[in-house]
Amino acid sequence: MTSVSHGKPCAGNPHARFEEGASAPESPRRNALLHNRLITGVLITVTALMAEAKPLVVYFSHTGENYAVGNIATGNTAKVALEIAAQTGADIWEIKEKTAYPTSYDACVALAKKELAAGARPEFVGTAPDLANYDCLYLGYPNWWGDAPMIVYSFLDKAAIGGKTIYPFCTHEGSGLGSTARSLATAYPKSKVEPRGLGLRGKTAQTDAAATKTAVADWLKRLGLAK
Ligand SMILES: Cc1cc2nc3c(=O)[nH]c(=O)nc-3n(C[C@H](O)[C@H](O)[C@H](O)COP(=O)(O)O)c2cc1C
Repeated sequence: MTSVSHGKPCAGNPHARFEEGASAPESPRRNALLHNRLITGVLITVTALMAEAKPLVVYFSHTGENYAVGNIATGNTAKVALEIAAQTGADIWEIKEKTAYPTSYDACVALAKKELAAGARPEFVGTAPDLANYDCLYLGYPNWWGDAPMIVYSFLDKAAIGGKTIYPFCTHEGSGLGSTARSLATAYPKSKVEPRGLGLRGKTAQTDAAATKTAVADWLKRLGLAK
């Protein structure tokens, strides 16, 4: 038996009053009321937790000599990543390689080809952020040989992405997102990879902030993620 402390009449029986601390008679209706209150409490808690959950932007981007943009200090994908974080209020984390990729475009292209063929998992600097604190992940990378750079897989292998929704975005110079979203979905079947990722020309991301802003805003709106 459970005691009630509000002393108010039960709905449906206005004459019954329960004193503070007194035992209340069991009835199916009363049990149903208490049950409903419990459910409401749980729902409020869950809603509050969901409201606190934040998105996270994780990206890899290469600086130095790059296709169509010359020598760049901030990578093309980095520009898009920053714009997504600005528009969603997400935290942001950059995947940085432990052993630097060559700054020469041709040398980087050659190394990336080897890494892809080998299914390499190059090491990254630091510890991947704890995804338990985030409800969804925006994942950014350049298109390298039709796939995400292998270091992006290094991150995903280590991060607890099971059950998370991943929204991929990619910069490229003609191939678009390619099959990168499909490759990620195949590699990480415990996560949901949104197939409608954002693909943007690297040159646009690098040189046209207004177009980048619009592309990001349109994409977030399309996916129902705009704030
Ligand atoms: C190693 C390497 C491989 C690339 N492969 C492709 C490709 O297959 N298709 C494509 O459209 N662009 C390709 N690109 C161009 C990049 O995807 C593009 O320049 C991108 O915006 C670079 O982004 P970042 O500055 O963030 O690294 C490649 C560039 C590099 C360095």
